[in-house]
Amino acid sequence: MNQKNSPIGMIDSGLGGLSLFKHIRQALPNEDIIYFADSKYVPYGDKESDWIVSRTTHLIANLVNHGKCKAIVIACNTMTAVAIETIRAQMNVPLIAIEPAVKPAVTITQSKHIAVLATATTVKGKNLKNLIETYAQDIKVSLVPCIGLAEKIENGKAHTAEVKDYLNNILAPLVEQKVDTIILGCTHYPFVSNTIQDIVGHDIQIIEPSEAVTAQLIRQLNQYHLSSERPNEGSHIIWTSSDPLKVADVTFSLLGTHLPVETTGF
Ligand code: DGL
Repeated sequence: MNQKNSPIGMIDSGLGGLSLFKHIRQALPNEDIIYFADSKYVPYGDKESDWIVSRTTHLIANLVNHGKCKAIVIACNTMTAVAIETIRAQMNVPLIAIEPAVKPAVTITQSKHIAVLATATTVKGKNLKNLIETYAQDIKVSLVPCIGLAEKIENGKAHTAEVKDYLNNILAPLVEQKVDTIILGCTHYPFVSNTIQDIVGHDIQIIEPSEAVTAQLIRQLNQYHLSSERPNEGSHIIWTSSDPLKVADVTFSLLGTHLPVETTGF
């Protein structure tokens, strides 16, 4: 079957992965995209690994079977942290997974002290440990679990005083300890990167891997001859396991554009 004009599937626990969706939509304007937000169960950051593995596998199978997706982008560091090996072993579809940008941070840092902001599950996970062992052996890496931050962003609070206070508390020690590079290791956090930059000042670089992941997606589509041949713009839709009206509202507050939202049974 010719799958070139089939959609790309994206998946996150909620709407954080829209930070990556923005880059992909811009780089690949003629691709259809189905974005799945598992809003009923967000946040994943405090869930058991076994649950995340089986839920993620189930959702990806549905994107492939019902959505006819030709490739899947895991737009959630927490899913990658605990489920990527199982998913790669079980799924016969091109998979592109986001993970904290440790390697680029190591090439940037001058102070040799970097920090990763992520969910508790990502911070504890084997994936991040491996990245640090592989790329950051001579570097000090502060791991900062941001408990509750993704949930606040998911609830439309990205630009509130509550989030600013929260970030002030988390970031003050990093500035004091001369961290010069901060990795956003959760796809929700780019939506507060301006606030983070204001707090830490412009001597500290904030990085996140959306561009690299988009480049990797383009490489895989080319490699498997799956790039869309449609001359016109692709269509975009959000599927959610929860209330479509709330999801549509928060989507608009994060992206500044409206996207159609449908509730699915899975
Ligand atoms: N956006 C997700 C990530 O990149 C997870 C947030 C959550 O559900 O806890 O890790």
